[in-house]
Amino acid sequence: MIFTVAIDGPAAAGKGTIGRAVAARFGFSHLDTGLLYRAVGAKGGDPVAAAEGLEPSDLARDDLRSLEAGQAASRVAVIPQVRAALVEFQRRFARAEGGAVLDGRDIGTVICPEAEVKLYVTASAEVRAHRRWLEVGGDEAVVLAEVRERDARDMGRADAPLRAAADAFVMDTSVLSVDKAVARAIELVEQKLGERA
Ligand code: CDP
Repeated sequence: MIFTVAIDGPAAAGKGTIGRAVAARFGFSHLDTGLLYRAVGAKGGDPVAAAEGLEPSDLARDDLRSLEAGQAASRVAVIPQVRAALVEFQRRFARAEGGAVLDGRDIGTVICPEAEVKLYVTASAEVRAHRRWLEVGGDEAVVLAEVRERDARDMGRADAPLRAAADAFVMDTSVLSVDKAVARAIELVEQKLGERA
């Protein structure tokens, strides 16, 4: 069975939590596509060469979750040749047999416009920064500034900017708890699977 769940949205909106829960519930594989851009940014040197030569071991580095790695990721993510080098891998993952969940910024709009279920998960910048701060610590005001800067770069870039696909189901996790968002996402997938059966 080919079935793709595309989850897009800004930093720390809850995409990863929802993605992992949906994948576990249905036995789908899960790809955090942000990790690809984080790994390219962390490699240093020419970002296009880094993207073209990306290897599984690059994704296993333990420093990819830092604020710095997030900033480096969003800087290399504006480069069209970097994005182009990562498209095929993501498309193949999305349409592989067995079902897949991908979370990122452009999954429902560019990588897999044919995804069976599209979610756009968002929340206020303050709520997202608070969540990220609980994970990384440090100065919360710095984390908020980092979140805002990355949002502006991700939404403002010319190639594959962050935006909700016209047919995406929008969830605001400032008002909806992450548990409720997970439950809603599971319902949407069940409904789509039911329509197919
Ligand atoms: O975990 P968090 O939401 O903070 O970020 P991430 O999903 O790991 O993504 C890091 C950065 O990679 C983003 O700010 C984007 O600039 C870029 N990215 C992208 O351009 N396209 C994707 N599909 C995923 C991430």
